[in-house]
Amino acid sequence: MSINITTPRLLVRQLMDRDTWTYTYLLVDPQTQLGVLIDPVREQMERDLSLIRELGVELLYVLETHVHADHVTSAGMIRQQTEARIVYSAAAEVKAIDVAVNDGDAIEFGNFSIRAITTPGHTSGCVSYYVDGMVFTGDALLIHGCGRTDFQQGNAATLYHSVTQKLFTLPDDTIVYPAHDYKGRTASSIGEEKRWNPRLGNDRSEAEFIEIMADLNLDLPKKINEAVPANLETGISFDPKRYLHEAFTMSDLHSAWESLPQDEVIVDTRTEEEYQDGHVPGALNIPFGEEDKHAEELKGYRKVYLYCRSGRRAQTVLADLSIMGLDNLTCVGHSGMPEWEQAGYPTES
Ligand SMILES: [Fe+2]
Repeated sequence: MSINITTPRLLVRQLMDRDTWTYTYLLVDPQTQLGVLIDPVREQMERDLSLIRELGVELLYVLETHVHADHVTSAGMIRQQTEARIVYSAAAEVKAIDVAVNDGDAIEFGNFSIRAITTPGHTSGCVSYYVDGMVFTGDALLIHGCGRTDFQQGNAATLYHSVTQKLFTLPDDTIVYPAHDYKGRTASSIGEEKRWNPRLGNDRSEAEFIEIMADLNLDLPKKINEAVPANLETGISFDPKRYLHEAFTMSDLHSAWESLPQDEVIVDTRTEEEYQDGHVPGALNIPFGEEDKHAEELKGYRKVYLYCRSGRRAQTVLADLSIMGLDNLTCVGHSGMPEWEQAGYPTES
């Protein structure tokens, strides 16, 4: 047996944001003191920067596993303070980053090389990072779980292939470090997940997995409407007024509807059945979940108004389309069709 004394083991610090149960990881090559930070959280920036200072680390990169929906990243602000370069998957289409990685790309720091493994499915732009017997999986693979697949171009079949064909081909003793855990667990291994992951392990079929994911019925993350647009701009230069439209109501939509120019459109994001039951006259029906297919068409309008029943689906569609580069959106964020009807405005069915 030979012992390699020239390359010390990578130092890993796992940090947590209790508010969103997010893990941030600081990786440091102890020989060169060069480091990278994975998935930092805005509210924890001072903690992370002081740890970096205490350990005497020169931060080369901030790696993001995906565009997070539950917290805002500190990547942009950390770059301003440390000159670290921001890395995302090319498929995430985030503006103002420094390195866009594709499958198999390497990120070098000191004696170590991190390999990007694209693992889409939770979002279309998810990437995992493999280094030194560890894999940082973001939300693609969680400890005995996985990320949801019902927004941000999520797709259960795609996630199934990312996990079973890519992550599960890593050696069984590879340590799995996820972006979250909600039960206080800190790490797992590929072998353990292959055997015990209730959604993806034990040779679950793709069809079974798709069914499990379709039946989750999860609430939306609290911060999605702020987090997704902010993260698309590395967490800074973010004007929430551009996206949130807290104050835009069905009565405002009515005013817009009364004199709607040709180059503006109203979109009903409810299901086809709800739409058939009565909608804003002239509104297009693009049900929640199908917005991806209509992004190009909607880009052609000067203004797009979104509404649903309570505001939640419209807000999610807005967040989703923002990721795809649309900046012409206005959304009725906290009410919907029932208010229109109560006000006695005309409907069409
Ligand atoms: Fe996520």
